[in-house]
Amino acid sequence: MSVEIATTDSVLVTGAGGLVGSALVEELRSRGVETVLAPRRGELNLLDQQAVFDYFEQHRPVHVFHPAAKVFGLGGNTRFPGEMFYENALININVIEACRRFGVRKITALGTGCVYPESLGGSLLREDQVWDGAPHGSEWAYAQAKRAMLAQLVAYQQQYELDFVYAISGNLYGPGDLFDAENGHVIPSLVAKFHRALTEGGKVTVWGTGRAERDFCFSSDTARALIMSHEQLTGPVNMGSGVVVTIRDVVEGLVEVTNGAVELEWDATKPDGQMRRFYDLSKLQSIGFQPQFDLKAGLRSTYEWYAKNYPHVRR
Ligand SMILES: NC(=O)c1ccc[n+]([C@@H]2O[C@H](COP(=O)([O-])OP(=O)(O)OC[C@H]3O[C@@H](n4cnc5c(N)ncnc54)[C@H](OP(=O)(O)O)[C@@H]3O)[C@@H](O)[C@H]2O)c1
Repeated sequence: MSVEIATTDSVLVTGAGGLVGSALVEELRSRGVETVLAPRRGELNLLDQQAVFDYFEQHRPVHVFHPAAKVFGLGGNTRFPGEMFYENALININVIEACRRFGVRKITALGTGCVYPESLGGSLLREDQVWDGAPHGSEWAYAQAKRAMLAQLVAYQQQYELDFVYAISGNLYGPGDLFDAENGHVIPSLVAKFHRALTEGGKVTVWGTGRAERDFCFSSDTARALIMSHEQLTGPVNMGSGVVVTIRDVVEGLVEVTNGAVELEWDATKPDGQMRRFYDLSKLQSIGFQPQFDLKAGLRSTYEWYAKNYPHVRR
């Protein structure tokens, strides 16, 4: 259902200190929304159901954007599947139930591409295929908690007419990311490695051949896509920039940003990961979404933010 976010509507953003949350807060404020509620974990622990209900009762948000999630690094997903499921499932159950109890007009929640079945491999993934098989083993618990959130949203739409968008997002990056050089997502990890090599010396070793292809969406573009989807779409919506690049393009972009001053080493004996993972973006593109940042501009902005804020960055 179409809904408009009026500048006088109060809008809650969960996980507002994170990559997506901080970009959403900035985008909503730049649109003139007067009351953007952005509680950090210290003010509102989303695992605490009573605290969540009390917060909603007190602040009465009209719209909710829900990017908050327990996100572990690569190793953590396989080492702590129980914690992963429990915390994500609980956070989502609390937030969505509060939306229902306190009459939120619409919620846009963040899913992940991991919810898609492993068996669909490198094919173009459509929103109606989420339930067509089991997710990949390495991220199984995380993916199942995110699937449970979609199930809850569908059930609440059926019984309570709670309107929602469930954003199925691929690779995101930007200022404010978690820059874990060893176990993090590919772009923030490379940004941290390039910065370390530039400031402390040494080479950057890149795993794989660089031929794996991905769609990376810059965080402020993601925030715009989320707000446009919230206003104009309903149900599951794939998110992405619509531009596919290779890991080698990312590395070359960072070489350019650092003026070629960093020595590179490719370790082709290490795995590339999945070679292709693409999402059918026709639903998002049907409302006219176009990214404003290409890879080069996004990498420059991310690297400059990191260099300026280091060491006060999430690592
Ligand atoms: N980044 C990606 O490439 C990517 C790809 C696909 C989907 N997604 C999804 O997009 C969403 C946002 O991702 P992101 O990269 O922005 O994550 P992020 O930077 O790690 O942000 C997550 C936020 O959630 C908060 N949070 C976690 N547990 C909480 C709790 N119990 N109470 C209150 N706040 C809590 C965190 O606060 P603290 O910092 O205090 O822990 C953090 O600010 C997630 O749902 C993720 O699954 C991300």
